[in-house]
Amino acid sequence: MQTRLIDIRTDRDTALNEAKKLILDGQVVAIPTETVYGLAANALNAEAVKKIYAAKGRPSDNPLIVHISDYSQLLPLVKEIPEKVKLMADAFWPGPLTMIMKKSEVIPDITSGGLDTVAVRMPKSEHARAIISACGVPLAAPSANLSGSPSPTNAKYVLDDMNGRVPLIVDGGACEIGVESTVITFAADIPTVLRPGGVTPEMIRGVIGEIKIADAVLHELKEGETAASPGMKYKHYAPTADITIVKGSLESFCEFVKNKDCFVLCFEGEEKLFERFVTYGRADDGLSEAQRLFDALRELDEKGAKTVYARCPEISGVGLAVYNRLIRSAGFKVVEV
Ligand code: TXA
Ligand code: MG
Repeated sequence: MQTRLIDIRTDRDTALNEAKKLILDGQVVAIPTETVYGLAANALNAEAVKKIYAAKGRPSDNPLIVHISDYSQLLPLVKEIPEKVKLMADAFWPGPLTMIMKKSEVIPDITSGGLDTVAVRMPKSEHARAIISACGVPLAAPSANLSGSPSPTNAKYVLDDMNGRVPLIVDGGACEIGVESTVITFAADIPTVLRPGGVTPEMIRGVIGEIKIADAVLHELKEGETAASPGMKYKHYAPTADITIVKGSLESFCEFVKNKDCFVLCFEGEEKLFERFVTYGRADDGLSEAQRLFDALRELDEKGAKTVYARCPEISGVGLAVYNRLIRSAGFKVVEV
């Protein structure tokens, strides 16, 4: 299959028309969102959704997020809209927030990975919403990487993973947030965050009060434990390089990596301390780390890094999302120095 790239910033009409034509024909198109790029297909067409799993090499029990461009598209997808979901939508949609509810009959099993719930998100990206509106159907879209790899935050990295696997990549430039949306389920008694993202637990508590954070956000699942979110049980975000998180002061970090044959994943401003390094944002700014993390992981591979020691982010605010992705890319290897 030939993969075309169309820049929606310069060729808007062509991008929208081509994306619409392909998606309504049951094909998969890579699209930009404010979080990461997604691999989109008609969420209500089981045959089209199957092609997403094939393009990604994704296990079919790992459900997809259904993307809408207007609040009126939500009701037909779910059994009912819980009161707290309405409050959350008012506060954070459009935005990097995915909400899980009991699904209605219109959602094919393949879209929800066989579960009786569905995950729904209204992206903030104007490009994403324009594509969804043009198609007139909700779009199922996982991140546009090969299963297991870091999520792509620009069209070049989508092409690296998806060349020959999808007919079209819509280029919308670099993603503003850089890590995937916050996923929270309302199918549990107490709303539970399954994956942290740009909408932080602090922000959510401010709107609906009590929430839980799933254990798997910060800890590896133990043998035999079931994941509330199937995505949490798979190896994730992993570059080829072997990464270890090193917790401790900058000084003890430097001491630890001294004389080691390694690359360092460090913060901006620390460059002159290391010979071989890639930076990911500023130490005191979770959002800047989120924007850079997945690109930095891919850059480490491009530079041929084999062993990487990573500085540890602050584990609060958006930093919780950064740590959640980094610890998975490190296969949960953390040392304290
Ligand atoms: O920012 C994002 O969310 C991006 C962009 C493209 O919108 N999408 C994304 O999709 O990250 P994906 O498929 O890579 O991650 C979706 C996560 C997975 O961990 C999946 O297991 C979980 O959400 N998920 C989806 N539906 C679910 C459900 N019904 N119950 C529990 N977890 C669900
Ligand atoms: Mg993903």
